[in-house]
Amino acid sequence: AWPYANGPLHIGHIAGCYLPADIFARFHRMIGNEVLMVSGSDQHGTPITIRADQEGVTPQTIVDRYHNIFLQCWDKIGISFDLFTSTMTKNHAGVVEKIFSKLLEKGHIYKSSMSQPFCSKDNRFLPDRYVEGVCPNCDFEGARGDQCDNCGRTLDPEDLREIKCRICSDTPTFRDSEHFFLKLTDFQDSLESWIETQNHWRTNVKNFSKSYVQKGLKDRAITRDIDWGVPVPIEGYENKRIYVWFEAVIGYLSASIEWSESKESRNWEDFWTGNSKGYYFIGKDNIPFHT
Ligand code: MF3
Ligand code: ZN
Repeated sequence: AWPYANGPLHIGHIAGCYLPADIFARFHRMIGNEVLMVSGSDQHGTPITIRADQEGVTPQTIVDRYHNIFLQCWDKIGISFDLFTSTMTKNHAGVVEKIFSKLLEKGHIYKSSMSQPFCSKDNRFLPDRYVEGVCPNCDFEGARGDQCDNCGRTLDPEDLREIKCRICSDTPTFRDSEHFFLKLTDFQDSLESWIETQNHWRTNVKNFSKSYVQKGLKDRAITRDIDWGVPVPIEGYENKRIYVWFEAVIGYLSASIEWSESKESRNWEDFWTGNSKGYYFIGKDNIPFHT
């Protein structure tokens, strides 16, 4: 996975994601397979802006600091990516924009109004991690506006019980805001049968994903009222940004493209079509977004 550039890596990151991926890549090279191992720092979204707010510095200061620390860490521990980039590159924004526009053109993205928590004390919308509350699914108390890290359920802020502003602890009110929605319901059937054919997944990942989709997918907002992130390529959306989880997972593809552009005679498409297989080394709270 792409680590959020909002804090240093800890042993759980290394043991859970990066060392196993490095071992797996080296093993496959040894037995004669071609391997492309990419990742980068996840530099957008509320994990970054909340950290910047807390320290009283810009989000740019935060992501630069931790991106450099990540690079030093790979070097010291001997983990060798073919490319470790970030979600801040021009290439990434371009690939995201292309995918967004294509989905829009095909009618898989539509505009709608959404009720969003607003804090009158802080005079701002409170997307994702700016609110906390009780998960309606598992009663966990630290659930966020977009997801419960305890049970893995994706959420909308309205689903949270006892919702609070993370900045001042006041109870927010809800205001309407216009956003783009990804029509996940269009993909219900194709996703269900696609998951069924993924025989190289771990059993728990496959079961979690299967039951997740079988419960019925809901269309989800993929833009936010925030000023830090990939711009929305549509007029009138200058003050909004693309939701971090919509763009960050595109990083695996955009990083492959970035990698092949610096290589003669290597084509990223070789790794994304035909006989290639994708393996993702992630934490369990990342499963719904990666699937
Ligand atoms: N930054 C996320 C986390 O630490 C993982 C993002 S993986 C990506 O949970 F592929 F979406 F970038
Ligand atoms: Zn939960």
